[in-house]
Amino acid sequence: MQFALIDTHTHLHTAQFAADRAEVMARAATSGVARMIEIGYDLASSQAALALAEQHTAVYAVVGIQPNYVHEADQAALGELLDLARHPKVVAIGEIGLDYHWQKAPHDLQERWFRDQLALARELALPVVIHSRDAQEDTVRILRTAANGQPGVMHSFSGGWAYAQACLEVGFMLSFSGPVTFAKATDLHEVARRAPAERLLTETDCPYLAPHPHRGKRNEPAYVRLVVERLAALREQPLDQLAAAVWQNAETFFAF
Ligand code: NI
Repeated sequence: MQFALIDTHTHLHTAQFAADRAEVMARAATSGVARMIEIGYDLASSQAALALAEQHTAVYAVVGIQPNYVHEADQAALGELLDLARHPKVVAIGEIGLDYHWQKAPHDLQERWFRDQLALARELALPVVIHSRDAQEDTVRILRTAANGQPGVMHSFSGGWAYAQACLEVGFMLSFSGPVTFAKATDLHEVARRAPAERLLTETDCPYLAPHPHRGKRNEPAYVRLVVERLAALREQPLDQLAAAVWQNAETFFAF
């Protein structure tokens, strides 16, 4: 049975792929990964993500300032993001959100950039890709007030069912990555089982978060298949059926 897979969160433009990017992308194609969404985290990486999307028909781009980089961005970056985002291969604003794990930028500055970029996405009628780490409560508070009715995805969702429900209630998608393949991630397994089929997306977040049995090594889009296999097993669903649902969800969400 043939089916197409999608990796909705890659960072292929980064230095970790400088030596063998072409081989990595060829392996993705061989493994059935027919589309990749390349994500920026600051202005330069957003430009690089778009450049990669311009070179490859299978790649689309997402532009934005990730919370660990907002203290390095100036206000003019918002205008430059707006220009980049008008490109037809840009399909969302991201990754944006809150990161209280690394504590690189003050929380109020993170929140301001989060809200400004939610507004930017709304202005452009684009969905948002959310990065949230150790910041569930504030993320939900901001999404409830600033993103209600706006399409969005919780990238590399991590957390339990209560948090997942809060994200689903604001209308967001949940994107699963490598950690769902880990034996001890039982909270995440529960979310993967209970989430509505039409809210599921799949990703690698490569080069990070490699799934089992590659854990701790460099991740790559071909490994999204391991995430899809695990999701199908958890949901007791045939692999091709789950892959088809995820593909349909991604097409609708990113409006390819
Ligand atoms: Ni990322």
